[in-house]
Amino acid sequence: MDQVNGSVVTEFILMGLVQSLGIQFLLLLFFSLFYMGIILGNLLIMVTVIFDLHLHSPMYILLANLSFIDLGLSSTTVPRMIFDLLSDCKVISFHNCMIQMFFIHVMGGVEMVLLIAMAYDRYTAICKPLHYLTIINPRMCWLFVMVAWIIGVIHAIFQFVFVVNLPFCGPNNVGSFYCDFPRVMKLACMDTYKLEFVIAANSGFISIGTFFFLVVSYIFILVTVRQHSSNDLSKAFFTLSAHITVVVLFFAPCIFLYVWPFPTKSLDTFFAIVDFAVTPFLNPVIYTLRNKDMKVAMKRMSQQVVSSRDMT
Ligand SMILES: *[C@@H]1O[C@H](CO)[C@@H](O)[C@H](O)[C@H]1NC(C)=O
Repeated sequence: MDQVNGSVVTEFILMGLVQSLGIQFLLLLFFSLFYMGIILGNLLIMVTVIFDLHLHSPMYILLANLSFIDLGLSSTTVPRMIFDLLSDCKVISFHNCMIQMFFIHVMGGVEMVLLIAMAYDRYTAICKPLHYLTIINPRMCWLFVMVAWIIGVIHAIFQFVFVVNLPFCGPNNVGSFYCDFPRVMKLACMDTYKLEFVIAANSGFISIGTFFFLVVSYIFILVTVRQHSSNDLSKAFFTLSAHITVVVLFFAPCIFLYVWPFPTKSLDTFFAIVDFAVTPFLNPVIYTLRNKDMKVAMKRMSQQVVSSRDMT
C-alpha cells in the first residue's frame, strides 16, 4: 500500500448537475427561485413567532428554531450549487470542502434533535396534558435547543477529525455537487474501510434509529389521540400529520445517502436536493398552510404592518 505523508490535494472537483446548457439555465432559474422561497418562508416563520406573543409557546419556538436550521442547512450547499451552474470549472478548495462537510453535519445534527424535541413536546401536550406546562416550560425549551446544538457540533466534529487528517494525494473528483464525508473519504490514499463504518454509523444508523423512534412515537401519540379525545381529534391529527411528513421528508434522504450500500450518482443527487432544497422549502409551507394559529398570527401581523403604515 502507498504510504503518503502529507496531503498534496489543495482543491476538489465537484460534479455539475447536467451537461446541457439550456437545462443548466433552467435549473439556475428554478433553484434561485427555490432558494429565495426558502429564505422568505423560513424568515417569515421566525419573524412571526418572535413578534407574535400568542405564539410564544414551546411548540412554535421550536418550530422557529427548525426554520433557522432549515435555512442554515440549505445555505451550506444550495448557493454554491447555483453558483457552480454558472461556471465551467467547478472547483472547491480543500478548506471550503472541509467547512462545507462540517456545517452540513452540524445543521443536520441539530435538526435531528429538534425533530425529537418537537415530537416530545407533542407527546407531552397530547398524552400528559395536565403536566404539559410543568414539563415543557421555557427553561426546558431552552435546554432542548442547547442540547440540539451541542449534539450537532459533537456529531460533526466526531466525523470531521477523521476525514480532515486523511492523506489526499491525487484523485480529487468528488463525483457530487457538494462535499460530504462518504464521497470525500473515498478519495483518500489509504484503505478507509473502517472509517466508512464510522461514518455510516454516525450518520446512517443514527438516522435510521431516530427515524424509527420518531415514527413509533407519533403512532403512539395518534393512538392515544384516538382513544381519548373526541373534539380535538381532527386538530391533533392535522398537527401530527404535518410533523410526520417533515420527519419522513428529512430522514428518507439521509438514510439513503448514508446507509444505502449501492450509491448511484443520479439517485444521490436527487436525494441530496430533496434534503437541501425541497425539505427546507416545504417545511414552512407544511407548518403554516396547515396551522390555524400560524395563519391567524400572520394575518394579525400583516394588519399591524398595514395600519402602522397608514398612521405615518
Ligand atoms: C430558539 O430557541 C431559543 C430557546 O428557546 C429561543 O430563545 C430562540 O428565540 C429560538 N430561535 C428562534 C429563531 O426563534
